[in-house]
Amino acid sequence: MILVLGATGTIGRRVAAQLEAGGHAMRVASRHTPTPFDWTDDSTWRPALEAVGGLFLMAPDGQDVDPELVGQAVRSGVRRIVLLSSGGIEVMGDQRLLAAERTVRESGAQWTIVRPSWFDQNFDEGFLREGVLAGRITVPVGELRQPFVDAGDIAAVVVAALTRDGHVGESYEVTGPRALSFGDAATIIGRAARREVRFDGSPEGYLAAMTGAGMPEEQAKAAIEAFAALRDQGDAQPTDVVRRVTGRAPKPFETYVSEAAERGAWAG
Ligand SMILES: NC(=O)c1ccc[n+]([C@@H]2O[C@H](COP(=O)([O-])OP(=O)(O)OC[C@H]3O[C@@H](n4cnc5c(N)ncnc54)[C@H](OP(=O)(O)O)[C@@H]3O)[C@@H](O)[C@H]2O)c1
Repeated sequence: MILVLGATGTIGRRVAAQLEAGGHAMRVASRHTPTPFDWTDDSTWRPALEAVGGLFLMAPDGQDVDPELVGQAVRSGVRRIVLLSSGGIEVMGDQRLLAAERTVRESGAQWTIVRPSWFDQNFDEGFLREGVLAGRITVPVGELRQPFVDAGDIAAVVVAALTRDGHVGESYEVTGPRALSFGDAATIIGRAARREVRFDGSPEGYLAAMTGAGMPEEQAKAAIEAFAALRDQGDAQPTDVVRRVTGRAPKPFETYVSEAAERGAWAG
């Protein structure tokens, strides 16, 4: 039995769907599933972990991966853990995910760490959706190019690591096939969605947008600093992880965009 955390979220939902399609026994868990799981309520942990041997481990932004939960999982019979981490966490100083990786490495279970680049789905399901609809996205990274990756491809790497041999002890940098700037991404989306989408990569634009949306100035400035460190590192290159692990080529950003536009993701 595999326990899928964050099972209503961008990656967990796709991990659960792919496990189900492959006929694997699994249990989905979040605060809103039949077996509820809440990071902030440890009385929910034991029922969720009952009879579980494999774990897709993720915590939403702002939530630590509690080592107590990982310890409890291993003591109750979890032998394999696949952690959703992120690329760029050293340079961005993401202490939350660096700690999560350490916890998993030291857990005693067989582990795989999945470090994706920026999700394509940020633009239609995630934090950039509102900006796309408003015609202006703001990320303070200038013309930096990143190999945006499809959430379905990330889930496929997770599922392979959970269900097949050969992935234990690996840290996988999961990327799409091509590095694009946010400006490129905005242009591609604007064309497919038939709406104007401009990109502002300046720190000033980001600060104004975030504080205008209610983010405390200090938090916005800390984010700008982390983004600046990423920008200073320079363009990230695509890897061959999706093809190597799943046997299929990663989905091009343009395909993600045309599928989302066809579904009406940015209509209205
Ligand atoms: N966005 C990116 O480009 C990117 C790139 C690399 C890595 N990442 C990493 O990916 C992770 C986010 O993954 P995602 O986008 O799939 O998540 P998501 O779509 O934001 O979903 C969050 C999930 O966590 C659940 N959740 C929220 N609060 C919870 C709580 N207190 N206890 C238990 N479950 C809770 C939510 O379900 P309920 O509301 O039903 O509880 C939901 O299933 C983050 O760690 C982020 O750093 C993101």
